Amino acid sequence: MRHILVSVASRHGSTAEIGEEVALELARAGNFVDVLEPDEVDRVDDYDAVVLGSAVYVGRLAVSLRALVERQGGQLRDKPVWLFWSGPLGDPPLPPTVPDDVRAVVSAADAHDARCFTGALDRGGLDLSERALVALTHAEPGDFRDFEDVRHWARDVARELAAV
Ligand SMILES: Cc1cc2nc3c(=O)[nH]c(=O)nc-3n(C[C@H](O)[C@H](O)[C@H](O)COP(=O)(O)O)c2cc1C
Repeated sequence: MRHILVSVASRHGSTAEIGEEVALELARAGNFVDVLEPDEVDRVDDYDAVVLGSAVYVGRLAVSLRALVERQGGQLRDKPVWLFWSGPLGDPPLPPTVPDDVRAVVSAADAHDARCFTGALDRGGLDLSERALVALTHAEPGDFRDFEDVRHWARDVARELAAV
């Protein structure tokens, strides 16, 4: 049994729910899984593997996720790491672009994979500045998450980890 950390940055909760689904699937595959917010992670050296996740805000991963990678980069590089981000909305999901800092995070943590999942946006839960930003980007409100896709990816992670 491997001990895995799942740490996800999520302002409004939808990316955290994706992280919970990943954690559940990894546990179903026989692993022991901790779920912690990035700010709660002091050390990663007790874990056999780490799954990092973040929502995207204005083209970037969340600050707390980037801070975790800066804090723990050296230790993360010593173990298998996977990254996912969630953001694109609508059908087809937009924007199709990779957030600016994904490459830097993949490189700092030496991540095996960086995977994009579609996101969810509830305008009612946004503050005024977020509403203005969302209006500027014409983001489509709604829940576009595909949990079957998430579970499929998590099973791939579990298989890859078992082979490490
Ligand atoms: C202020 C704001 C800016 C956003 N900017 C982007 C963006 O640049 N690219 C993107 O793919 N999604 C963007 N989104 C969509 C979010 O990433 C998406 O709604 C995500 O699922 C939110 O996750 P959360 O519920 O965990 O906060 C933005 C959402 C908000 C509220």
